[in-house]
Amino acid sequence: MESIYLSSCNRLAKVTIIGAGNVGRTLAQRLIERNIADVCLLDIVEGLPQGIALDLTEAQGLESHHCEIMGTNHYQDTENSDIVVLTAGVARKPGMSRDDLLKINAKIVTEATQKSLQYSPNAIYLVVTNPLDVMTYLVWKTSTLPKNKVMGMAGVLDSARLQTFIAWQLGVSIHDVQGMVLGGHGDLMLPIPRYCTVSGIPITELMDAQTIESLVQRTRDGGAEVVRLLKTGSAYYAPASSACYMIESILFNQSRLLTAAAYLDGEYGLNDIFLGVPCRLGSDGIEKIVELGLTEAEKAILHSSGDSVRDSVEVALNFLK
Ligand code: APR
Repeated sequence: MESIYLSSCNRLAKVTIIGAGNVGRTLAQRLIERNIADVCLLDIVEGLPQGIALDLTEAQGLESHHCEIMGTNHYQDTENSDIVVLTAGVARKPGMSRDDLLKINAKIVTEATQKSLQYSPNAIYLVVTNPLDVMTYLVWKTSTLPKNKVMGMAGVLDSARLQTFIAWQLGVSIHDVQGMVLGGHGDLMLPIPRYCTVSGIPITELMDAQTIESLVQRTRDGGAEVVRLLKTGSAYYAPASSACYMIESILFNQSRLLTAAAYLDGEYGLNDIFLGVPCRLGSDGIEKIVELGLTEAEKAILHSSGDSVRDSVEVALNFLK
C-alpha cells in the first residue's frame, strides 16, 4: 500500500525524530528499511545523528529500500515534517529524584517542540520520552497544537508486552493475541483482561484469575525487567516498533484502533489530561477516542492514574514558569 502522502503530493512522508539515542535510531532504521518515510534524525550531540544516518545510508543497497535519512543538529533541517517524534531526554540516574528527571525532560521536550514547530507547523507530534503522559501533556500545553495532533506512545508497547506473555502462557501464536491496556504508562497502567483475546476468545475463558494477574504484573514491570537485564539503558526495540506501528497507521491512513496517550475532554469522566485510551489513528492523528464500558473498580484505577499524572504535570509546569 502506498502512503497517502506519496500518492497525494508525489513525495514520501517525512518523519523527524528528535533524539538519536537507542529508541530514536532504532525507530529511524525501522521507518526507512520498511519504506515508510524519509527520516530526519536530530540530536544535540554533534556528529551522532550524522554518523547514524551515514551508517544506515551505507546499508541502503543491501537493505533495498528507497527512503532517505539525514542526521543533523539544526532544526531548519526538520522543515516540512509530517510527523515529529520526541525521544530526546535523559534517563534517571542513581541519586536523581523523579522530580529532577521531570524537570530536565520537561525542558528538553518543550524546547524541542517549540523549535521544531517553527519549521513544521502542521506536523503530528508523537511523544516517547518518559514520564510519558506528563511529557505528552506538556507538548500540547506549551504549543498551539490541536489535541488530535498530539499523542503519546505507551499503550501499544504495554499491550505488546502483555500479548507476548499471553502467547507464551497459552502456547499460541502471538498473531492471534490482542491485548488491551489503558491508563498511564508504568505502574499506572490498567490492563483489562476481558478485552484481551485470543482469536476473539477473552483470556478470562482461557486462564484462571491468578495466572492472569501474574501476566498483568509482569506487564506492569515490563520496562523494569528489561532494565534489570540490560544493566545500562532501557528497552528500545519494542518501544521503537510500537512508535513505528502508530506512525504507519497515521501515514497510511489505516484507521487502526490503538491505545495512545490522548487528550481527554470528558471521555472516561476525565478532563484536561493525557492518558492511554483506545483511539482510531489516521491521517488526522487521533480521529476518535473509543469509550469502553468499565467496572467501578476499573474507573477508580483510571481516575487515580489520572490524579497521579495531574500532580506531576503541575510540578512540571511550575518548573517551566
Ligand atoms: N535535544 C536533542 N536531543 C537530545 C537533547 C536535546 N535537548 N537532550 C538529550 N538528547 C538526546 C541525547 O543526546 C540522546 O542521544 O536524546 C537521546 C536519548 O537517548 P537515550 O539516552 O539512548 O534514551 P533512549 O533509550 O533512546 O530513550 C529515550 O524514550 O522510552 C523512553 O524512557 C525513555 O525517555 C526515554 C526516551
